[in-house]
Amino acid sequence: MTKYGPYPVITAKEAACSISNGQTVGFSGFGAAGGAKAVPYALADKAESEHRKGRPFAMRVLTGASSGLAIDEVLAQSGAISWRAPYQTGKSLRNQINNQDVEYVDMHLSHVSQTMVFGFFGKLDMAVVEASEVTPDGRVFLTTSIGISPTMLARAEKVIIEINTVQSPRLREMADIVMLPPPPHRDPIPIIHPMSRIGVPYATVDPKKVIGVVLNSQPDTVSEFSPPNSVSRQIANHLVKFLVSEMKAGRIPKGFLPIQAGVGNVANGVMGVLGAHPDIPEFTMYTEVFQDSQVELMKAGRIIGASATSLNITEEALGVIVDNMDYFAKRLVLRPQEISNHPGLIRRLGVISMNTALEMDIYGNVNSSHVYGMDIMNGIGGSGDFSRNSYLAVFMTPSIAKDGRISTVVPMCPHIDNDEHSVQVVVTEQGLADLRGLGPLHRARKIIENCAHPLYKDYLYRYIENSRSGHIPHDLTKCFELHRNLLETGSMLPGLKL
Ligand code: COA
Repeated sequence: MTKYGPYPVITAKEAACSISNGQTVGFSGFGAAGGAKAVPYALADKAESEHRKGRPFAMRVLTGASSGLAIDEVLAQSGAISWRAPYQTGKSLRNQINNQDVEYVDMHLSHVSQTMVFGFFGKLDMAVVEASEVTPDGRVFLTTSIGISPTMLARAEKVIIEINTVQSPRLREMADIVMLPPPPHRDPIPIIHPMSRIGVPYATVDPKKVIGVVLNSQPDTVSEFSPPNSVSRQIANHLVKFLVSEMKAGRIPKGFLPIQAGVGNVANGVMGVLGAHPDIPEFTMYTEVFQDSQVELMKAGRIIGASATSLNITEEALGVIVDNMDYFAKRLVLRPQEISNHPGLIRRLGVISMNTALEMDIYGNVNSSHVYGMDIMNGIGGSGDFSRNSYLAVFMTPSIAKDGRISTVVPMCPHIDNDEHSVQVVVTEQGLADLRGLGPLHRARKIIENCAHPLYKDYLYRYIENSRSGHIPHDLTKCFELHRNLLETGSMLPGLKL
């Protein structure tokens, strides 16, 4: 038998044989970065073969956040997932969740590791973790993400390591790994700057738990974002104007504050524009995912340092980092997600958070996860970790979606994941509403005036005029009229011809 140090080298198929129906399996990865790849494909084959024989095979699947194609598409399509946490972005899995074929636990990403440690998920039968190296004494050097891998390696009953032979071993130079003990034995976490390093560059595993090493030579499959469009540019320009006026007023220090940027096309586009803007000084980031637009900004010296848990970037952008590792390793630190998204640290560092909403209501409540309040899009992700604890919590969204058939400013969100008590600033391409210090009605007027699309403004004004008064005026017979119209006619304003 071939060996990798003391560990047997096994095929992905052999690894899949060690996982049984109904088990809870944790896979490395945060977004598509650093995800296990070979074993999930073999598990998909196993599931299909078992199903053909009329035997059940489905697992409870845990990852740091979403995953690459291997899990949320391929594994999902084979019917191998019965339960999933804490976040996903796959079309196939999304459909299965919305059809109630898969049970989905949509949760704050900072909570995932401790939920495992507290035993709230039950036992973790197996962890499948991608690494660039595992040493005989159990040091595991991770690749493009840290996520919950250190916790899974510590808690899982058995472990399979996927050694990725194409990822640069130098990625470890960015890793800074610490594990938090369970309460009540937690000391203060000594991070006082986004770039503070407090840990070691590797996770650890008890070598006795490692049942084998699988060799894998697949790169991460991060899809490219759409380039910033005019809407992202307008959102970014409103934000720049606001941030500059905050600096002038002395509410943001001259040296600026660390930025967190959310996931997706809009956030990536806005960050690209905002980060390059001459009126914004060079800045640091304390964020969750490092995306393509930020690689360019760091290379240009606009981002002077960044803390994240994942390099959720295309192969091309990763090539830029690896080819210039002496430069990037000093400026990028990758941490476990319970540290990158830690509420206390976000509050301590004074992070400006900028996340994307699917929709917001006129009072400043945000829905970033459930279309019509019913169908999952992706999940809350880390947006709540950041918005609840940041110095300034910004949510952005284009004012309309689907060519205007949807207004993203609505009377009441049918699902709320970031609420009015956390949300401070909302911005669309129409404009920005600074909600700090405003009561509900004042907020509503400002959001409608500054952020709603002209197609929907009159409707929204009429809504508050005709609502029953109270601290938060509403008309409970009409508050979901736009959503009902959308479900019934395909447009929020059915008379609207577009
Ligand atoms: N109702 C229904 N669909 C809507 C919608 C609404 N109010 N607003 C947008 N959409 C649709 C868009 O039309 C688009 O559909 P398509 O894929 O068929 O074209 C899709 O949602 C994505 O919209 P897009 O404008 O491309 O946004 P994005 O890629 O920037 O993603 C979120 C936006 C909200 C889905 C994404 O940011 C997300 O999942 N956020 C939650 C998690 C999070 O914030 N994580 C960051 C923490 S660090």
